[in-house]
Amino acid sequence: MPIRVLDHHLIDQIAAGEVIERPSSIVKELVENSLDAGARSVEVDIEAGGVRLTRVRDDGVGIPADELALALSRHATSKIASAADLDAITTLGFRGEALPSIASVSRFEIVSRHVEADRAASIYVDGGALAELKPAAHPPGTTIEVRDLFFNLPARRKFLRSEVTEQGHIVRLLERLALSRSDVAFRLRSAARTLLDAPALGPAMGDSAPSLDRVARVLGQEFAERSLDLDHSAGPVRIHGWIGAPAAARATSDLQFWFVNGRAVRDRLLMNAVRLGFRDVLYGGRQPSYVLYLDIDPSLVDVNAHPQKLEVRFRDSRQIHDFVFRAVERRLADTRPAQGAVAPAWHGQATLGPTTAPLGLRGGEGVDLSGSWAVSEALRATSAGVHEFSSQPLHSAPGSDAAPLGEALAQIHGVYILAQNEQGLVLVDMHAAHERVLYEKLKAQQGTAATQLLLAPISVALKVDELDALMAQRADWEAAGFELERLSPDTLVVRSVPALLPREDIASLVRDVVSGVADSGTAHHLDGATDRLLGTLACRSAIHAHRRLSLAEMNALLRQMEQTPRADQCNHGRPTWTQVTLAELDRMFLRGR
Ligand SMILES: Nc1ncnc2c1ncn2[C@@H]1O[C@H](COP(=O)(O)OP(=O)(O)OP(=O)(O)O)[C@@H](O)[C@H]1O
Ligand SMILES: [Mg+2]
Repeated sequence: MPIRVLDHHLIDQIAAGEVIERPSSIVKELVENSLDAGARSVEVDIEAGGVRLTRVRDDGVGIPADELALALSRHATSKIASAADLDAITTLGFRGEALPSIASVSRFEIVSRHVEADRAASIYVDGGALAELKPAAHPPGTTIEVRDLFFNLPARRKFLRSEVTEQGHIVRLLERLALSRSDVAFRLRSAARTLLDAPALGPAMGDSAPSLDRVARVLGQEFAERSLDLDHSAGPVRIHGWIGAPAAARATSDLQFWFVNGRAVRDRLLMNAVRLGFRDVLYGGRQPSYVLYLDIDPSLVDVNAHPQKLEVRFRDSRQIHDFVFRAVERRLADTRPAQGAVAPAWHGQATLGPTTAPLGLRGGEGVDLSGSWAVSEALRATSAGVHEFSSQPLHSAPGSDAAPLGEALAQIHGVYILAQNEQGLVLVDMHAAHERVLYEKLKAQQGTAATQLLLAPISVALKVDELDALMAQRADWEAAGFELERLSPDTLVVRSVPALLPREDIASLVRDVVSGVADSGTAHHLDGATDRLLGTLACRSAIHAHRRLSLAEMNALLRQMEQTPRADQCNHGRPTWTQVTLAELDRMFLRGR
């Protein structure tokens, strides 16, 4: 083929590939435009997860009728005029690409009335083909309707996920935007249902200071109540916002929000800095939760570093990293003594030897199980045949054929079990091992799982879209042994749970699993929604690091592992145990035999 210049329509579609990935990208671009236009209220309506319709209506300054067609052409923007403006961007948009990109891959209509005009005008665009300007009725502000996304690009359409998933992306996105501007009202509706409703807060017009009320509204009261406020400035930089108390750490990274000069970003440098600040107080894979704002002289940060503007480049990234890390670390250090009472076992101590009296596996009576749920019970429940083991003498010959993993000797740093078998030493990662045991049992019992009726049904408050996602997978939950009912759009009632699982703190188990299944960041190496559900259930229910186990409990776990398929890896693919042979020990100590 000869070289040719592509026509502008095709160029727009190619550009759309960079910024318009899914319906939530449209919501992002349109709402950012509304915020740039000074809107005090932004209303978003969607149908079919935003694919059939996404409509954004604002009360911003609007667009003069004679500029409306220009707004839809490529590289046309009112936000920058020269290269110098690029050095200190204060608006969310600046590339002049969003509207033409969206219009090239959808059926698009814009209606706008400029504040100083007395009439509104509209333009309809069908897959990039502009119709003529028409007079219209509209209060000052702008409404944009995007229908049938990717109708002219079937290949892109195929990459869209289910309606529930796309709707979830939109909710998450709007939550971010709502956290960025407390002074603006945000509302999201799908069909007749309100998915997010955040009224404008803040005393003065234009006071965009983040407010904890908004945070509570968007992320839930629980985060707001268990968070520590933070505010620290140095020279041209200020960090402020809220970090979740370590005890409120989560299984997934879904409550991590960063805003740089009001722009929501997912910036690795900033995320790493916070993680480092939390390093002493979180164990295992627990994730910190936070809503943090970085205000910085705009000339010290480049926002033109990523097509979707999700990453930024700091002129002095080292210094920013240190600044954030120290601010977070210091804030957490301040609180440590007071937190003692609610603190989980993050200061894990080595527990050599049995820490609780060896308990009869049948009962577990008289053992102090002060944790949030009883380990011995969990282990007992996971092991149908555990009663047989309990009759086995604890001091049988190590590593007899019946017990290839040998006999437990101690728990090390609250994480590993040390055991001895015929070949030498065995080390077991107790959480990983228990997770695999649970997962395999859940899988094997699917559809025939023993369920445990709860004495009092438990109600769990979830976000509407999370509950949508859960209900879409209801059959899998029920096959696993749950009995569920949706009481209201955002309330779930749990009547029964799988007998295998702990019966305590079911509400947070359900919440953890819902967010875990949705969060592809912590994806298991498991295909299929059903396996992901069971895997997440197993992971969230398995005994945690730093839970003290008695020798009998450790032995029960070893025996279960021996009977569990694929017990050598947890379902994230990490090994669950390893062997150090006597020969290796001899070599270590240069001991000839
Ligand atoms: N809701 C709105 N209210 C007022 N003006 C708007 C609105 N949406 C778009 N505009 C005008 O249309 C122009 C083009 O919008 P578009 O989103 O395509 O580009 P941009 O926001 O300038 O840059 P970017 O591509 O980075 O988003 C904007 O610069 C702005 O002047
Ligand atoms: Mg824009």
